[in-house]
Amino acid sequence: MEIFCVALPGLEGLLYSEMEDAGFADIRVGTGGVSATGGPNEALRANLCLRVASRILLRVAEFRAVHLAQLDKRARRVDWATVVPSGSRVKVEATCRKSRIYHNRAAAERVAKAVYAAVPSGDGPEVVLKVRIEDDLCTISLDTTGDPLHRRGHKEFVGKAPLREGMAAAFLRQLGFDPDSPVPVVDPMCGSGTIPIEAAEMTAGLWPGRSRVFALEGSGLTRPQPPEPRNVPPIFYGFDRDQGAIQGAVKNAERAGVPVTFQRQAVSDLVPPKGPAGLVLTNPPYGARIGDRKLLVGLYGALGAVLKDRFKGWRVGIVTSDGGLAKATGLALEPFGPVAHGGLKVTLWMGQP
Ligand SMILES: C[S@@+](CC[C@H](N)C(=O)[O-])C[C@H]1O[C@@H](n2cnc3c(N)ncnc32)[C@H](O)[C@@H]1O
Repeated sequence: MEIFCVALPGLEGLLYSEMEDAGFADIRVGTGGVSATGGPNEALRANLCLRVASRILLRVAEFRAVHLAQLDKRARRVDWATVVPSGSRVKVEATCRKSRIYHNRAAAERVAKAVYAAVPSGDGPEVVLKVRIEDDLCTISLDTTGDPLHRRGHKEFVGKAPLREGMAAAFLRQLGFDPDSPVPVVDPMCGSGTIPIEAAEMTAGLWPGRSRVFALEGSGLTRPQPPEPRNVPPIFYGFDRDQGAIQGAVKNAERAGVPVTFQRQAVSDLVPPKGPAGLVLTNPPYGARIGDRKLLVGLYGALGAVLKDRFKGWRVGIVTSDGGLAKATGLALEPFGPVAHGGLKVTLWMGQP
């Protein structure tokens, strides 16, 4: 069997390297994600341990279908009883691209009928089947995740324009953050604390999915044994000028069970913590969601000046959808991305002040 780990477009390569580190077999980058060999147990492990993935699908069937009657016939050949636990509520979602079958709803209805014919739908847990028909090739997958994976289950305080956890983890990897020999991580505009909390969790070796349940757990699988957590040195910092954000970030780190130092402070007062140089990774306000552009140009300029004056030897990552604002820092930055994020395309701007 095959699992397909969905990534935000632009993060496939980083997900590939994460899956390589985690020991998944036969990994291959595809459109929108990375596949690996494995059945339900590997899907559960992927849900538990992958930080960059946004959803884990278990491939159920793949066949060609050029019209709805053929889709119906071939979908009925699948051994649904081994895929869908009896009594579950089955929901089928379909997308058709560049195919002779072009009607999403009609395709979903045909597959749903084939499933119900084999396994009558009950009122148990919801099971979602995703049907994708591309170039007349129909792929049917079971969504093993449920709520998307960036919902780790620790972030009750969300704040304004939060960064998804998977993106924070991906960008830490892209900047070379190595949990086995961690360096200090500073986020001067941390909001709900996503970036330093991810860095601390990675260092502890905690599984991101440890506190939540996944859709496929209804079928009685046993979770594998998690690794022994490691001690986390006090090298993770989040600052924000908003007291509410700091209070919320403190609670989020407590719920995640990792040590992060949070303090209310404006960017202009930022100084490097004592000790070796590390990473500054931040996601300042951008786009139409918060703030006015003129003020933002000033804010990015102030951030750039502080980093240039005080953070010699540190590596810098600035996450923004606005290349003009990245330029306003006055730093020499290289782009990584863009990555699609909540309707915007954001880029990680990387450099050394
Ligand atoms: C896009 S949000 C960061 C979201 C964060 N990455 C998260 O996941 O929740 C930007 C943050 O910058 C903070 N901010 C804006 N201007 C600031 C300044 N001059 N100094 C420090 N923080 C500032 C805002 O309060 C806001 O929390």
